[in-house]
Amino acid sequence: MAVYILGIESSCDDTSAAVLKGNIIHSNIIANQLVHKNFGGVVPELASRAHLQNIIPVVESALTTANITKYDIQALAFTRGPGLLGSLLVGISFAKAFTQALGIPLIEVDHMQAHVLSHFIRKENETKKVPSFPFLCLTVSGGHTQIVRVDDYFEMKVIGQTIDDAAGEAFDKAAKIMGLPYPGGPVIDKLASIGDPGRFKFSKPNISGHDYSFSGLKTSFLYFLRDQLKLNPDFIESNKADLAASIQAVIIEILAEKLIKASEHTGIKEVAIAGGVSANSGLRNKMLELQETRNWNVYLPEFQYSTDNAAMIAVAGYYKYLMKEFASLDVAPYSRIGNKAGI
Ligand code: KG4
Ligand code: ZN
Repeated sequence: MAVYILGIESSCDDTSAAVLKGNIIHSNIIANQLVHKNFGGVVPELASRAHLQNIIPVVESALTTANITKYDIQALAFTRGPGLLGSLLVGISFAKAFTQALGIPLIEVDHMQAHVLSHFIRKENETKKVPSFPFLCLTVSGGHTQIVRVDDYFEMKVIGQTIDDAAGEAFDKAAKIMGLPYPGGPVIDKLASIGDPGRFKFSKPNISGHDYSFSGLKTSFLYFLRDQLKLNPDFIESNKADLAASIQAVIIEILAEKLIKASEHTGIKEVAIAGGVSANSGLRNKMLELQETRNWNVYLPEFQYSTDNAAMIAVAGYYKYLMKEFASLDVAPYSRIGNKAGI
């Protein structure tokens, strides 16, 4: 059934609205919040205020781009959590008011499930293959790092996750140590493309099972630079690209090793990546290499669906719409992962 779904995402520092017809994309508008740039991270109070300012223009722009009006929308899907409570509240309040005013169903979506389901967003007449169930999805963002076994749209099991920092945080913290702006992931990625990944070696954590740890790497990077700066105050500036390439290489190696292990243990060779860090060119190349060497079917999200976006919320909403899984008006946000069954 081809219904128009409006998706709303406001879990962190991006305000986004998207229109899908079924699982076909019609618009995906993202307003980034530049207000956090000077603070080296997201300031929750500033994020909520910026969402308030952005949400109506972003929705209007999504409707205009899709060439429809609000009266064409048949259901609204919003991010319930995990995320910053103040930010989530802006999206939820808008969603409740919009659906009440138009008399249409309200659908709650888990942000992490939506990252996984971003692989099912389609363009008109697109024939690109989608992952078939069961598949593994490495979901790597600024707040989370998980290996998820996906048996159906909403049957997901986390089989490995970070015990401390997320992979995106490792990129962001390494960038901060080097004096680079926030978010550091894209900056490191760009610098790494002209650097030597073998120049500096950093030790990998020794964690059992499919779990990850990144906090030790951050500390060893910090101490390494502190020692080098004592010998040469210009060390970071004169080795920027090699440092970025080397830290990126070890983060990717850590991510890939556990993913390989998970594939071996489950026997699953359908493997996807999702979340902000899935935009990383080194990780994308590594996945394509594993596709060849391990005989995997690898699925890389389009760049606009890697980082936070409302199209992934709308597509998850569409599959819930088909199951008639609607939310009631007293639905409240949740800030942390695990407050909700499934993932
Ligand atoms: O999924 P996302 O947009 O927001 C969260 O839900 O956290 O992910 C943001 C994270 C940030 O840590 C950012 O540095 C990282 O994704 N990121 C990247 C790249 N683009 C975004 N990390 C490495 N390379 C990139 N190209
Ligand atoms: Zn995210």
